[in-house]
Amino acid sequence: MYVTGIGKTKFGILSQSIPELLYDSIFKALEDSQLNIKDIDMIYVANFIAGPLQNQLHLNSLVASLLPGINIPIIRIESACASSGAAIYQAGLSLSNFNNIMVVGVEKMTNINIYDTTKAIASAGDEILDQKEGAIFPSTYALVAQQYMSKYGLTEDDLALLAFKAHENANLNELAHFYGKKVSLEMIKNSPVVCSPLRLFDCSPITDGAAAIILSKEKRSDRDIEVIGSAFVTDTLSLTQRKDFTTFLATKIAAKKAYEQAGITPRKIDIAEVHDCFTIAEVIAMEDLGFCEKGKAKELIRNKETWLDGRLPIGTGGGLKANGHPIGATGASQIHEIVKQLRGEADKRQVKNIEIGLAQNIGGVGGSCAIHILKR
Ligand code: COA
Repeated sequence: MYVTGIGKTKFGILSQSIPELLYDSIFKALEDSQLNIKDIDMIYVANFIAGPLQNQLHLNSLVASLLPGINIPIIRIESACASSGAAIYQAGLSLSNFNNIMVVGVEKMTNINIYDTTKAIASAGDEILDQKEGAIFPSTYALVAQQYMSKYGLTEDDLALLAFKAHENANLNELAHFYGKKVSLEMIKNSPVVCSPLRLFDCSPITDGAAAIILSKEKRSDRDIEVIGSAFVTDTLSLTQRKDFTTFLATKIAAKKAYEQAGITPRKIDIAEVHDCFTIAEVIAMEDLGFCEKGKAKELIRNKETWLDGRLPIGTGGGLKANGHPIGATGASQIHEIVKQLRGEADKRQVKNIEIGLAQNIGGVGGSCAIHILKR
């Protein structure tokens, strides 16, 4: 299958409503693909928490209301932060019956008090094992960071470098949440502790936004990017059900499947978007995706190998950390960035001489994972 159209709204603290964000990204993707809405056979809409936050479910019919006269199958998909990655995987399977399928992901998280937003996000954890114990995602990932740091010698300064890279890249991406925000390493290192060892700048922000992708069975133009690997895997929901916090089995299995499908090894990946909802998640992703041996991610960080001019740039658009993490839209936004890069349309953040990109989209604390590998 091919990605034949991409569209993304600005990510950030926005005034637009969910329907407005959906409309904007849908029509941007159509414009980019030069397809008409009548050419789209099916739509998957990805969203996580419009139920608790906006009291808005039935998003599939909401999308239909934006497209009068278009009575096609539209289905909502939810897999927490991996919702649109899961939708892209499902769209790939559905292409055996259709020619063009759109995936649109959306989330509206701001202008609601942080208590309600945090509670809604926590619903991606186990109600009995996590939520009733007060585990929210900054604390869950802090446990992951504590175990990883004590086992493998990663430091808070290493995490700060990842946050710094993310903000540097976001400053080259006009659609990023933190575009235009001046951030120094000192600011990151002195920012308030959210849950030790994670500070404010180790966290992805609360973001609004939408992103849409059009997938087609056939190649339609030279700008189209082939999807050569697509996998989606689930694992246990709660950290309390895991033996080792420093690796996510769902990522490892999905990556193995996607690499096998693509007929490549991790060495062939030129750029990657990983699910850095917290800086520690980027460290674990680098190892689970096979970019380095277990425990060695700190070397890639210290040698700046994952910066824009490094051996394997990661999070070129700012990652979840600084591009933003409007949960239902994140997986589609990662594909948007990889496609921009592979087409050579990434402007000031363009990475040169690249052929293959990978996107890793995780749900919760590794309870689900979608991996996509794209080729120019
Ligand atoms: N990184 C850097 N700066 C951030 C930030 C982040 N993640 N989140 C907020 N800020 C900044 C704001 O821009 C603002 O700066 P300003 O004073 O210069 O305008 C300041 O911090 C205060 O912002 P506010 O919105 O009041 O922050 P908050 O305390 O309500 O929220 C967090 C901060 C970390 C609690 C929130 O971003 C969060 O919960 N993140 C995690 C989201 C999550 O769990 N996602 C799912 C992952 S699985």
